[in-house]
Amino acid sequence: MRKPVIAGNWKMYKTIAEGVDFIQKIAPMAASASHCDVVVAPPFTALAAVSQAAKGSKVGISAQDMHWDKEGAHTGDVSSTMIVDAGCTYVIIGHSERRHDHGETDEQVNRKLKAALAEGLTPIMCVGETLAQRESGGTGQVLKTQFEGGLAGLTPYDFSRIIIAYEPVWAIGTGRTATPEMAAESHHILRDLARQRFGEAEARSVRILYGGSVKPDNVGGLMGQPEIDGALVGGASLKVDSFAALINYPRT
Ligand code: PGA
Repeated sequence: MRKPVIAGNWKMYKTIAEGVDFIQKIAPMAASASHCDVVVAPPFTALAAVSQAAKGSKVGISAQDMHWDKEGAHTGDVSSTMIVDAGCTYVIIGHSERRHDHGETDEQVNRKLKAALAEGLTPIMCVGETLAQRESGGTGQVLKTQFEGGLAGLTPYDFSRIIIAYEPVWAIGTGRTATPEMAAESHHILRDLARQRFGEAEARSVRILYGGSVKPDNVGGLMGQPEIDGALVGGASLKVDSFAALINYPRT
C-alpha cells in the first residue's frame, strides 16, 4: 500500500513568524491524520524556525530547492547539508517555476536528486507539461524526457526513496485543475516509465502526487483515483483551514 502524502509548497510566501504560527495551528490538526504523511515547504528563511516549531509533530519539513554541491562559491544558493541542518527531511526538486524562472534543466535536476539522496533527504521530483505541449499531443514525450533525464543513473533502490509530483504547468496557480481522469492518465504514464526503467516492485510502490490548483473542493475527486497518491499544493496550503481540509480529504 502506498501511503498518501499531502504536501504544502509555500513558495515565496510567509515570514518566519507567520510560518511558525501556521505550524503551531496545523500540528494538532495533523496529529490525528494517520492516513497520510504531511509535509510543508517553507521558504529558506523560515526553514529552521518552522522545523523547530514542528519538532515532535507529524509535519515533515521540505526545502523548495537545493544546490547539488555541499558548499562552494554559488551566490544565493543553499546546499543539501544546509537544509538538513535547518531541519529538512524532504526537498522539492525541479518544480516548474524553477525550470521556468531559473532555466533549470533535467541534467541539473538529476544532479540535485543524487545530492539529495546522498544526504539522506527524500526528494519530491516535479514533472509536467505546458499547455502548448499538451495541446500538441506532446504530454507523454515530455514526461518521458523529464523522467529519464531527471532520474538518469539512479538505481532501483535510489528510486524507491523518491516521490514524484506530476504538475501540469497549465494547472499551477491558474485555478484550472486537471480532471481526476486526466491526472490519472499522466500518473499511469509515469508508473509505466517507472516499470520499464526500475521494475515492477518499484513502479508499484513509488508515490506519485498530483499538483496544480488542488483545493479542498476538488481534492476528494483527485484522491479517489487509485493512481493518485497525494497532492502537492501551492495556494491552498497557505491558510490553516484549507490545508487542514486537504489533510482530511474525503475518504471512502
Ligand atoms: P497551486 O501550486 O496549488 O497554487 O496551483 C501547485 C504547485 O506549484 O506545487
